[in-house]
Amino acid sequence: MKENVNDGSTPIHLRAGGTSLVIAVDGGRLPRILHWGPDLGALGDDALADLHRAALPAVGDSAVTYPQPVPVLPQLAEGWLGRPGLVGDADGRRWAPKFRDATHEVDHADDGPVLRSTALDPEYGLAADFEIQVLAASGLVRQRVAVRNDTAAPYRIDSLELALPVPSDASEILDLTGRWALERVPQRRPFHVGEWVRASRGGKPGLEHTMLLVAGEAGFGFRHGLVWATHLAWSGNQVLAAERTPAGTRHLTAGEVLLPGEVVLGQGESYRSPWQYGSWGAGLDDLASRFHRHLRSRPQHPRSPRPVVLNTWEAVYFHHDLDTLTALAERGAEAGAERFVLDDGWFQGRRDDTSSLGDWTVDPAIWPGGLEPLVARVRELGMDFGLWFEPEMVNLDSDLAREHPEWIFDGGHGPGLASRHQHVLDLGHPDAYTHLFDRISGLVGSLGIDYIKWDHNRYLLDAGHTPDGRPGVRRQVEQAYRLMAELKAAHPGLEIESCASGGGRVDLGVLEFADRVWPSDCNDPHERLEIQRWTGLLVPPEMQGTHIGAEESHTTHRTHPLDYRAEKALWGHLGIEVNLLTADDETHAALARWIAFHKEHRALLHSGDVVHADLADAAFRLEGVVARDRGEALYAFSVVERPSTWPPGRIRLPGLDDERHYTVEAVHPGSAPAAGAVLPPWQRDGVTLPGRALRLVGIEAPSLDVDRSVLLRVVSVPAAS
Ligand code: GLA
Repeated sequence: MKENVNDGSTPIHLRAGGTSLVIAVDGGRLPRILHWGPDLGALGDDALADLHRAALPAVGDSAVTYPQPVPVLPQLAEGWLGRPGLVGDADGRRWAPKFRDATHEVDHADDGPVLRSTALDPEYGLAADFEIQVLAASGLVRQRVAVRNDTAAPYRIDSLELALPVPSDASEILDLTGRWALERVPQRRPFHVGEWVRASRGGKPGLEHTMLLVAGEAGFGFRHGLVWATHLAWSGNQVLAAERTPAGTRHLTAGEVLLPGEVVLGQGESYRSPWQYGSWGAGLDDLASRFHRHLRSRPQHPRSPRPVVLNTWEAVYFHHDLDTLTALAERGAEAGAERFVLDDGWFQGRRDDTSSLGDWTVDPAIWPGGLEPLVARVRELGMDFGLWFEPEMVNLDSDLAREHPEWIFDGGHGPGLASRHQHVLDLGHPDAYTHLFDRISGLVGSLGIDYIKWDHNRYLLDAGHTPDGRPGVRRQVEQAYRLMAELKAAHPGLEIESCASGGGRVDLGVLEFADRVWPSDCNDPHERLEIQRWTGLLVPPEMQGTHIGAEESHTTHRTHPLDYRAEKALWGHLGIEVNLLTADDETHAALARWIAFHKEHRALLHSGDVVHADLADAAFRLEGVVARDRGEALYAFSVVERPSTWPPGRIRLPGLDDERHYTVEAVHPGSAPAAGAVLPPWQRDGVTLPGRALRLVGIEAPSLDVDRSVLLRVVSVPAAS
């Protein structure tokens, strides 16, 4: 149902999923958000008009002292002196756009109400079409804009950023940084006047990227304090900023980073920005749950039980042979694996990482009978089959690079710096695209591949499209999306994992096509706890690959017992990434018990609400998943460093129903606590308590060494009379 908006004196109120978005649309001006956050309930026109007046500041004597609220596309020509919304020009002219004469229409779409606004800059011959939506399933806000050039003179866009305002009590910023094998490290700072800017320029968000930029009330945590965050649904260059001006504006901006000349609009052509998403919450858990609910509400969200993966990478690396891999598959199936993923090393000439990327044919030297015998055995064992590709990459030492050097990006100085000995194939060449599609699709079809681990290990640097050297990064992202979409269309049921040296391509853009992400190449459970916790701000557990790695971590060289490694992998899309052929029978049996436990509980783990306790002592972590109906939950209490006090005190269990009674018991799917271990009394026989008591009083934390955890199973029971 569509509704034309009144004369503009009454703001628009979009309400859905527990969120209110109140938007001023008066005076033909661009949409200006007056409130983004908790649902305000139904508001009549009078109340909305008063809310608008209530939100207007006193204006001083200068038209250049920019009065709030700021439009979603801030404009210099309207007096805005902060980060510009649109930067563009036509050969040095038409560089200070002033969109106005806006018309507005509300569309009550099934997935949530949308405000569509069209504004014009008649002098410049530009039009801007805005969409601002509140999603019904999640209460997420998202917005995008398409800018069209209506004149014969080409219009070049250098940047286009949209803004979501946050209130003045958002006084702290949280964002994430990191590196290879240590993705998503949080950092916090006061929200001072100025700009806190996080940009990615490597052709993908990157391992270091913040994924989300959060602003919140002082001291906010997972369970308390109002928080607001922005995210850009785009897998290429991008910039997120938290900006506070001396004039009182605080907002979160997001947009693509465009390279010179990447967007030049001919007459009638448009550039449409990626969706800027906004989530708010009473604490970070609430904020994250909106992203999880959104992803889960999409028709393509994986709904089948997530098959337990056996990935070959850390088991055999490049040392492929049929006998070893068959034995590994058999051992994996015994342990309960349901999907066998053959990682890097299977294709023509690929004996190490110095050569052969691009030559996507099975290596007859290693696989004289092709991959078919392995695939047949995997299927006999009742498992799916997955294969590793790195479609956008090429080694100079490959047949592909020798035959088609013109398909390799070149900004005018040759193929540029190597990284992991590799360069980037320009999918903007139609023949390169078709070649890749044919090769991958051919293998998917002939082998019946169920799953692609889609890697991307090199940043794009001077990625010029040959022969003219124009930037090709933006088109590369579009072509990668297209390749994923067309492969999925050609092979219904095909699943894709987004891996980029670990968590380098994790965003809502790629998640339109990918069914899971690989958050990190680090399988050390000490690091994984944090990496998964922070990746979880955006990605729900069932879309995060979580593998049980080797006893001695291959990336950190810490050693951990199986129980800790398995417990940390339990929560996501579980996998095994160890050489099972060297595991003794006892370890193998314990591994099988963990996998069985995961299968028993994955329906809960992959549909429930993820919760984290805010614990005062940095030595501890408590996190869990609570069923949406609050009938059951699993939690893990972990010790991550030596606490300064002992015993550790009580932990309170978040997310349960205050009114219901629950049994709480410690469960040990792998091995039982050592005989004679010192346990708090409840841990011996469990307790039954109301949710309110578990929330407010809690239970005494188990006594544990560093990098050890206890799993708590919580089940609602009828109240005792
Ligand atoms: C990247 C991935 C790893 C593995 C290797 C294979 O580093 O992140 O998981 O697939 O490539 O070369």
